[in-house]
Amino acid sequence: MKRTKYCGAFCVKDIGQKVTVCGWVHSRRDHGGVLFVDLRDREGVVQLVFKPEFNELFKQAEGLHSEYVVSVTGTVGKRPEGTANPKLPTGEIEIIAETLEILNTSDPLPFEISEFSNAGEELRLKYRYLDLRRPQLKENMIFRNKLSQAIRKHLASEGFVDIETPFLTKSTPEGARDFLVPSRLNPGTFYALPQSPQLFKQLLMVSGFDKYYQIVRCFRDEDLRADRQPEFTQVDIEMSFVEPDDVIAMVEKMLSAALKEAAGLEIKTPFKRICYDEAIGRYGSDKPDLRFALELVNISDIAKTVKFKVFSDTVANKGIVCGICCKDDKEKFSRQKLESLKEVVAPFGARGLAWIKVTESGFDSPIAKFFTPEELAEIKKRFNAQPGTVIFFVADKPAVTYPALGCLRTYLAKELNLIGTEGGKYEFLWVVKFPLLEWSGDNKRWVSMHHPFTMPDIKDMAELDQFTQQGNGDSPQTEHGAKSKLSTSLDNAGAVPKALAYDIVLNGTELGGGSIRIHKKELQEKIFKLLGISDEEARDRFGFLLEALKFGAPPHGGIALGLDRFVALLNGEESIRDVIAFPKTQKGSCPLTGGPDRVAPKQLKELSILPMEIVPAEKKQ
Ligand code: AMO
Ligand code: AMP
Repeated sequence: MKRTKYCGAFCVKDIGQKVTVCGWVHSRRDHGGVLFVDLRDREGVVQLVFKPEFNELFKQAEGLHSEYVVSVTGTVGKRPEGTANPKLPTGEIEIIAETLEILNTSDPLPFEISEFSNAGEELRLKYRYLDLRRPQLKENMIFRNKLSQAIRKHLASEGFVDIETPFLTKSTPEGARDFLVPSRLNPGTFYALPQSPQLFKQLLMVSGFDKYYQIVRCFRDEDLRADRQPEFTQVDIEMSFVEPDDVIAMVEKMLSAALKEAAGLEIKTPFKRICYDEAIGRYGSDKPDLRFALELVNISDIAKTVKFKVFSDTVANKGIVCGICCKDDKEKFSRQKLESLKEVVAPFGARGLAWIKVTESGFDSPIAKFFTPEELAEIKKRFNAQPGTVIFFVADKPAVTYPALGCLRTYLAKELNLIGTEGGKYEFLWVVKFPLLEWSGDNKRWVSMHHPFTMPDIKDMAELDQFTQQGNGDSPQTEHGAKSKLSTSLDNAGAVPKALAYDIVLNGTELGGGSIRIHKKELQEKIFKLLGISDEEARDRFGFLLEALKFGAPPHGGIALGLDRFVALLNGEESIRDVIAFPKTQKGSCPLTGGPDRVAPKQLKELSILPMEIVPAEKKQ
């Protein structure tokens, strides 16, 4: 069954050659006695022609149906004048069939293998192996492979060593819940699947592998969204004797080499850089999309003294008033629509969304009456608002105002088709100088913004001691339900020490994050203390790290990039599910295999686990 080459690889140069092709029947058309079959494989489609003069063969071909698997031998010919298909790479030729072997039949498919198939996701995932026959998904997989190969090639050429780290391990805190695996040999104990290889890569630095990388699966039991899966892939990197600039330059070099090799893309380096505080202040987000402008403007100083109580009371209570000005699209911004935009900011805790339309004749707004003409003129000037624009305001604590307007900014950009009006198609950005900590309202303690191994950006320990004395354990001024990484640390922005941490952002998505790590035991212990982790707990959970730091741990740092997100962004996919061969649904299940599933009581017994049904009620928590 030797095939000459892929179906999609034939061209006019092959005319006259006797060839063999193998593939799937994509379609079959009967044109007045001549049968045309489009045969498909991984690389494309080629047209086969079955002529009635080959009687036996023709009859055999009449039995072909969609998705049958065949092997055909024939001669490549030029398509007759006027029948070429310029849309197909193989559109100028066809293969005149001489022999046909049906290798397998196929039942009718549950959905069409086409871009236009509108099958629901559940069904597509149930038959994922068929879904993967669709050109778009297939291209995504092939591109993903190209990109990871290009990354590997570059990192190897730079002297990075690929080292595998365990999957059955002890929990590493990255902020999500762990997936646990019971240990049969040690009843009552559990492995955790790694949320990332963070601690192992640090240990490898202690071993002296000064440039490590791994393209590795990570596991996090978190609520799933379009850009989150319970298992996903990181390009994980760690280096010794580096500062943030070294890691940043290394990633820029890697990305430009890999994008050139895998996608023929030339990207401009160095990427832009912005401090965390500036990103929040200008874009309301720590992962701003720079493909459009729509910057936030802070008018707290003006708002402080206005008669509109919503504004002035907010400023009096340590809040801020910020706004965004955009084109007033008459159709999109009817009064009713303007009022309904509150819904965009409400999930962040915003109590309202005030708006002022700037018109040729003045101002049109239900709140304009609360402002003096001078105040209105001042606001107009601050936003550089021309007639035909509308300004939206949120007045609240910083931890509400910024993320609310950050979200509105993206919403408006989509609504007004502004994406792509600034910058390039791929807007990479480094966000640097992150706060070291953020206040967790749920746990009533400080938690790491990245992870507890992040090096603080401090001149000396005294700075940290000072913060510990004033800040640790004291509840910050505010607590509310803003569900965002920005959370309450924004309300205490000035007080929190910064970290030697950096995130890389692409088109408004966090592509990766990293930091310089703590390599001294004393500092690591101090940070654990600051995070409310007792000595005992630190010994129990991270004793092996603290121990390793005693034996000549070099200064080191690194980063991890989300490969799934990267491939999705480059291929214009909304969801990372479309770049993963066998992803999970929003509920973390796999309709194809039926996992996660119940297991036999015998299996549970071996693991010393009682099935839920037979756990006595009083033991259930
Ligand atoms: P972090 O937790 O920021 O850092 O993760 C790095 C990157 O991994 C991707 N990512 C995900 N992708 C898909 N689904 C998920 N559930 C998911 N969670 C994270 C994101 C993210 O930017 N050990 C550190 C890195 C380091 O400090 O070197 C870490 O894991 O693109
Ligand atoms: P009210 O006085 O509550 O009727 O609000 C008047 C206008 O101000 C409405 O358009 C509200 O959406 C808006 N508004 C109320 N609270 C806020 C707030 N915290 N920030 C911005 N706008 C608000």
